[in-house]
Amino acid sequence: MIDETLVRREHDALMHNYGRLPVAFVRGEGAHLYDADGRRYVDCMAGIGMINVGHCHPAVVEAIQRQAATLISVSNLYYTEPMISLAEWIRDRGLGGRVFFCNSGAEANEAALKLARKHGGPERTEVVSLIDGFHGRTYGALSLTGQPDKQTRFAPLVPGVRYVERDDVPGLRAAVGPQTCAIFVETIQGEIGVQPVRNEMLRLARQLADEHGALLVFDEIQTGMGRTGPLFSYQDLDVTPDVMTLAKSLGGGVPIGAVTARPGLDEVFAPGDHGSTFAGSPLACAAALAACHVLDDAALQAHVREQGKRLLAGLEGLVADGLAVEARGRGLMCGVDLVMPRAAEAVRAMLDEGYLVNNTTPRTLRFLPPLVISGDDVDGLVAALRRVVPRL
Ligand SMILES: Cc1ncc(COP(=O)(O)O)c(C=O)c1O
Repeated sequence: MIDETLVRREHDALMHNYGRLPVAFVRGEGAHLYDADGRRYVDCMAGIGMINVGHCHPAVVEAIQRQAATLISVSNLYYTEPMISLAEWIRDRGLGGRVFFCNSGAEANEAALKLARKHGGPERTEVVSLIDGFHGRTYGALSLTGQPDKQTRFAPLVPGVRYVERDDVPGLRAAVGPQTCAIFVETIQGEIGVQPVRNEMLRLARQLADEHGALLVFDEIQTGMGRTGPLFSYQDLDVTPDVMTLAKSLGGGVPIGAVTARPGLDEVFAPGDHGSTFAGSPLACAAALAACHVLDDAALQAHVREQGKRLLAGLEGLVADGLAVEARGRGLMCGVDLVMPRAAEAVRAMLDEGYLVNNTTPRTLRFLPPLVISGDDVDGLVAALRRVVPRL
């Protein structure tokens, strides 16, 4: 049970923009978190996809300790080696072009938006994004996020964004034109419950971007860094974006974001166009580079595919037994729609069982475990769901 004084202090000291579950964590290791009483929980959310390497991965801890004792932060007015090494890694494993660093996913999308607007020039000022997508909470990123419930209280937003339904091929065709500077998409929409965007839509987005000189931007903030199997989810598809945004698990648990583009877009940003005080700090980049090396491993990627199949099979078993209506997933990014809109109650009951999951809609549970999760923990998760769901 959580210490009530902690709950009261949190209530009095923090703004009330989060609904927290009644647990406080003090330690983490791999796919497990521990509360102050030493109770172990299986983390099936990886901090909302932010710690794919697992909690306190020894390589990340070692890199942070070493870098913290040497040099933590330096202004971008100067050169630092960890930032350059990390940019080389992203460039060489990703789109082949240069990298811009920032501190979060929303910031990465803000930067990509500015890059696209500058690239588009005064004629191409519109952006197309998908309804039910999620790109962050800052004004530009929120404007790209086609979810009315997240936007309405904050209008007016950044103008010039057209929204298209996830599977609306004619709608996408109609929305993109000579006025479009960018199309922003996630290959799988995570925040709405792991909804894959059909290949046909992604291919059409590529074709329309080429026809109109717009940039195709893939937000790989949740799908990237090994989550779906390959390092970046587009690498399993036949569509390559012009620009990719990264954050979350890039840092191994430390805040960092990045925008990377294909060669040819390297010179769009000129000195003074964009920047951020902390961006690309030696500490964040050293942690990120250690995380990248852990994730850049064929054995781990095979493990993700294998455990992903195991989890999806377990969720499909719930569907077969009438406990759920649909299961979806690629790699270790999975979702399941329950029969009744009781997903919030399921999250609470799963916490009591010692499993951290979350609900993205009243019916949908989402699973984004650390990629190092064991087969036993995956089986334990499915068994706990089988106990909890019939009781809802
Ligand atoms: C696909 C996607 N883009 C952007 C963001 C925003 O990232 P951040 O919370 O680091 O600003 C998120 C966060 O959930 C996300 O899932």
